[in-house]
Amino acid sequence: MNPTIENMLQHVSVRDFTDQIITKEQKDALLAAALHGSSSEFVQAFSIIEITDKKLRNELSDITISSPHVKKADTFYIFVADLHRQATIIRNHEMSLEPLKNMEPMIVSIIDTAIAAQNMAVAAESMGLGICYIGSLRNNIAQVAKLLHLPDFTIPLFGMTVGVPETKNQLKPRMPKENHVATNTYNAENFNNLTVYDHAVKNYYLNRKTNPTDTSWTDKNLAIFREVHRPDVAEFLKKQGFSLQ
Ligand SMILES: Cc1cc2nc3c(=O)[nH]c(=O)nc-3n(C[C@H](O)[C@H](O)[C@H](O)COP(=O)(O)O)c2cc1C
Repeated sequence: MNPTIENMLQHVSVRDFTDQIITKEQKDALLAAALHGSSSEFVQAFSIIEITDKKLRNELSDITISSPHVKKADTFYIFVADLHRQATIIRNHEMSLEPLKNMEPMIVSIIDTAIAAQNMAVAAESMGLGICYIGSLRNNIAQVAKLLHLPDFTIPLFGMTVGVPETKNQLKPRMPKENHVATNTYNAENFNNLTVYDHAVKNYYLNRKTNPTDTSWTDKNLAIFREVHRPDVAEFLKKQGFSLQ
């Protein structure tokens, strides 16, 4: 085990930050890490927008509903899956936009964006900082796009709060390897055998210091997938120019 991996295994989302400021050097390092991720066909199809304006930050935090720490974290970035550069050069060369509208480039841009964000997360945690992804911006994805003046072929995927941790949650137990990893072929039997993991997660939620709850991983997933979440996202993607085909 090396220090990089040791840090990764200590990951917890941080939702409680001190007032300590993140320096310009730290921010530069975080952004450099994000920009150096792998990128499918080198398209680098993402943008990162730092939200420094207090009013804008508050409006975005209100959209999340569940994440008031967006207001308090020293730094807040929004990660945008972004094929607008490609759209611009295609338009400038009077080529067809059809290939860009397809699902495949959209998936590519989402993957590039997630890789950039996770690079930033690992870099931040290696510096003793805490992060939390903020997907609840998609509660009103169209409004986020409007507030940030996002052009076509862009998707505000999620935000990331970064700051110095005031308190940290206990580590959340991850699925054991048996539920996640196979060799040569998908192993439905092992992957769906969640009894041991449900027990571990129940134990975690019952015994955690803040907001103890009686729930298992299976219970949580049943609750999540009981109804369609954010049904407006597909409509928004179409408005941004994607065909979803
Ligand atoms: C794409 C993404 C979006 C997330 N959105 C939110 C969010 O809106 N608010 C929040 O408090 N946590 C959010 N999280 C954090 C997850 O809840 C957290 O990673 C998960 O519960 C596991 O806990 P841990 O990160 O502490 O191990 C998000 C995580 C990811 C990867």
